Amino acid sequence: MKTIKDLDINSKKVLIRVDFNVPIKDGKITDDSRIRGALKTIKYAIDKNAKVILFSHLGRVKEKSDLKKNDLSIVVPRLSELLNQKVLFSSNTRGEQLENIINNMKEKEVLLIQNTRYEDLDGKKESSNEEELGAYWASLGDVFINDAFGTIHRAHASNCGIAKHLPSAFGFLVENELSHLSELDNPERPYVVILGGAKVSDKIEVIENLVTKADKILIGGAMSFTFLSACGINVGKSLVDNENIEFCRRMLKDYNEKIVLPIDTNAAKSLEDENAIEMPVSNILPEYIGLDIGTKTIENYKEILKNSKTVVWNGPLGVYESNIYIRGTKEIMEYLVNNKIKTILGGGDIVAAASVLNLKDKVYHASTGGGATLEFLEGKELPGIISIEK
Ligand code: 3PG
Repeated sequence: MKTIKDLDINSKKVLIRVDFNVPIKDGKITDDSRIRGALKTIKYAIDKNAKVILFSHLGRVKEKSDLKKNDLSIVVPRLSELLNQKVLFSSNTRGEQLENIINNMKEKEVLLIQNTRYEDLDGKKESSNEEELGAYWASLGDVFINDAFGTIHRAHASNCGIAKHLPSAFGFLVENELSHLSELDNPERPYVVILGGAKVSDKIEVIENLVTKADKILIGGAMSFTFLSACGINVGKSLVDNENIEFCRRMLKDYNEKIVLPIDTNAAKSLEDENAIEMPVSNILPEYIGLDIGTKTIENYKEILKNSKTVVWNGPLGVYESNIYIRGTKEIMEYLVNNKIKTILGGGDIVAAASVLNLKDKVYHASTGGGATLEFLEGKELPGIISIEK
């Protein structure tokens, strides 16, 4: 893997694609992990006396009203604080103002360019990887570093487009992600996959890819009710993805030994109903919605996980946003951490649940990618990787 260490960046203009697509609420950044995740690469470039020029997207820009809420300057104070130095900002993604700032930059200075997706307003130039835009951005620097793992599944101008025109390599964050995730190509066995989340439709390709590789797949989340329906079980008012019952039926038939379903569920009449009741999945009351896995399922899953050597986990096992229905996810994650079972968390929701539980730093690896990790688990080729490796 070609990394920033393999390129001569001394005193050069180093373009770095980072993923500062951070969550924002009421004008404040609620989780700065993605900014902190990029620091190692940025600091390395500063140490090499580079002029550091950062690109990132923030949210999606489809119309004019998206501009203000996705203004990337919101990141500047936090980045500056974490780097302990001033961070320059260009409010334009191209043109004289940007070029003047770059021409006047001194070694070790850091510049953040406005949200690359501002270029989407006029003809989706960033997201369609418009040739001219990638070439223009590349003309602003000497080398390119892709350290935006969260965006590695996108073929956009600010990653693939720039890479085409400059000597390019991965940053430390991407290197770290790929070295952990690639362990799944040859996992220590037993290799167990935990799959949760709401909809089967979001996970079809993950299931199809991992079912052939894993020794067991433990199913949870609302998704489990589509599998249970496929077994002919009446799941009350629980969420069922009707279009995918047939898919679940086929998976259960072909991989009967591998796929494990919940035995019981913690259910209520609504998410607001505080009188949750545990019930066997074979006997879910008609007006109830399954919102988490139940105690017997937790015990069964722990028993299966006991001897596992590698676990990959995508999607929470219950409604993790609720104090009540995070229990299944909490107990299983604590079990994995306490028993030091090598666990890779992949996907936005399960990593968010790990943060809520204060377990994110205790698992073997919590991926910074949402969609990117999902596509990795689907076994897809990721354009941001190909653009550097080839
Ligand atoms: C993410 O948050 O998953 C990445 O930043 C990619 O964002 P996108 O789905 O808007 O491309």
